[in-house]
Amino acid sequence: MSTDSQPQTILTGDRPTGALHLGHYVGSLQQRVALQHHHRQFVLIADLQGLTDNGSDPAKIARNIPQVMADYLAVGLDPEKTTFCLQSALPALAELTMLYMNIVTVSRVERNPTVKNEIAQKGFSRSLPVGFMVYPISQAADITAFNATLVPVGGDQLPMIEQTNEIVHKMNSLLGKPLLHSCQALTGSTDRLPGIDGQAKMSKSLGNTLLLSASDEEICRAVHAMYTDPGHLRVSDPGKVEGNVVFSWLDAFHPDKSLVAEMKAHYQRGGLGDRLCKKELEACLIALLTPVRERRATLIAEPDYLMQTLKAGTQRAREVTQRTVDTLKRELGLPIMG
Ligand code: TRP
Repeated sequence: MSTDSQPQTILTGDRPTGALHLGHYVGSLQQRVALQHHHRQFVLIADLQGLTDNGSDPAKIARNIPQVMADYLAVGLDPEKTTFCLQSALPALAELTMLYMNIVTVSRVERNPTVKNEIAQKGFSRSLPVGFMVYPISQAADITAFNATLVPVGGDQLPMIEQTNEIVHKMNSLLGKPLLHSCQALTGSTDRLPGIDGQAKMSKSLGNTLLLSASDEEICRAVHAMYTDPGHLRVSDPGKVEGNVVFSWLDAFHPDKSLVAEMKAHYQRGGLGDRLCKKELEACLIALLTPVRERRATLIAEPDYLMQTLKAGTQRAREVTQRTVDTLKRELGLPIMG
């Protein structure tokens, strides 16, 4: 979709389950950096959502909050333009979740494709936490509490946006007025970056990703291990670019699109070896990540600054979100006792 003229309210966020990686970068971070100049942007560190599948390890979630803040600032999100906030410090989000839980059926949540996939992938079976099951409802609370109309997210989050809009429509028809705003997803330039091993999903738990903080050596190791075309045995053989991770990544990161197009044609004809393609990718990843890594190193040495920035934003977000929940309660006829 276009993000032209009209300034919109943006809400997006991440679970602080680990430092952010290149999948986050192409999926959403890059967009946020561009959008912050023309829109009112809130970025939420979703620590409560992080706990939905890390309930027994809250220390891990807490530890990663400054890590994610450092990633945000290192890629160019600017606290003067973007408001950063912490989910667990915004009680209005929990209240809205409780209200919405009553207008969403269990079968609807069970049908959410993202939740379904994650449940299968994590092998929860009978040990599925209730909180995990309902996290799409909590995400709808996040989005609507800010009255967000635009949500920059990775492609895997589209079912969350759909579910949010269903809640918006249900609530509005219950109230008989369009109190809540529906929202649109904005997916990144590369809808989904494949993992180093060629798997569709890139994730830290699969070990097939590259962190924004990666050293040159880690970059080279990752590129070296990258899945290409197993049928491309000799340099002179014609090779496949579809499903070849090196080319997916060159598409995502190389600034010279015509060079990449030429390389693809050459590879398909035969005569271009994996080693040269990987060299080209290595160089462009190093150019992209070196300044990010350097800024990040400075930032992570100042945890107080990072947490102070988060705190200042959270205070602003508290007002915005509390106003939404108060209005909703009033419209529902619940007494406001504040
Ligand atoms: N579910 C998102 C993720 O895993 C994180 C998230 C929480 C989020 N609340 C949000 C994203 C609200 C967009 C809007 O990446």
